[in-house]
Amino acid sequence: MRFLLAHLSDAHIGPIPRPRLRELLGKRATGYANWLHKRARQHDMELLARLVADLKAQKPDHIAMTGDIVNIGLPAEIAKAEAWLRGLGDPAHVSFSPGNHDAYTPGAMPALSKTFTPWTTGDDGQNGFPYLRRRGGVALIGLTSGVPTAPFVASGRLGPAQLEKLAAQLEQTAQEGLARVVLLHHPPHRGGARPLRALDDAQAFEAVIAKHGAELVLHGHNHQQSVHHLVGPKGRTPVVGVASASARPETHRPGAGYHLYEISREGAKARIRARSRGFDLDSGRIIDHPAFEI
Ligand SMILES: [Fe+2]
Repeated sequence: MRFLLAHLSDAHIGPIPRPRLRELLGKRATGYANWLHKRARQHDMELLARLVADLKAQKPDHIAMTGDIVNIGLPAEIAKAEAWLRGLGDPAHVSFSPGNHDAYTPGAMPALSKTFTPWTTGDDGQNGFPYLRRRGGVALIGLTSGVPTAPFVASGRLGPAQLEKLAAQLEQTAQEGLARVVLLHHPPHRGGARPLRALDDAQAFEAVIAKHGAELVLHGHNHQQSVHHLVGPKGRTPVVGVASASARPETHRPGAGYHLYEISREGAKARIRARSRGFDLDSGRIIDHPAFEI
């Protein structure tokens, strides 16, 4: 078995289609101002397209996109994001976990859950979280940590129902001998993000991993590559964050990047080799970054 999984996140697809005045009530007003003054300069759609072309050239078996696909959760943004996600590949080979910018306001939630159904449906045909997809010796478990929050708050939450189901899915797929990969937007460990940007129930997530383990946990949110480890019942679980897929290196450090995981089996154990590719400002090309150890 050799399974190649690509992970990208935080595409922040723009420009935001001009909102109607009534769409800019509450949190979206500050979010739109933030886009105009900051994010529009930080996220480059041409760069994102080049990164995706490079990712596809690696011929991954599956692509994980861990959220913040849009900026202020407008229906028009979500429609654009759907077209982009469709361009990544067949939804059977692409999994999506929403982020705080996708679940930006309560008004964004119906379009969000309806639009992204093909990318958040499990093997059982059910749409919802966590979904479980078995692919070539790998169990992909997709969570949502995106919940509407107050202005200037970018925190996330999983909730007891998701965590309970996650525990059962981890246990089940461990018995099946699958390499278990958990996908979510927020860093799921304590201290993984600043206050007001963190996952509220990180401690409860850590407790699930401590009891049931996982072979790999992938997240976005911080727009930074990061490696953390959680303790599981049989060893350590790597928790890896990835840079934003559209960050323009002139205005946002680090620049755009994505990760590749080659998952294989060594006896009863899963072996995972990680690679990081990203935009290099000096050469203007997408190159291999130094390999990182997990
Ligand atoms: Fe985020």
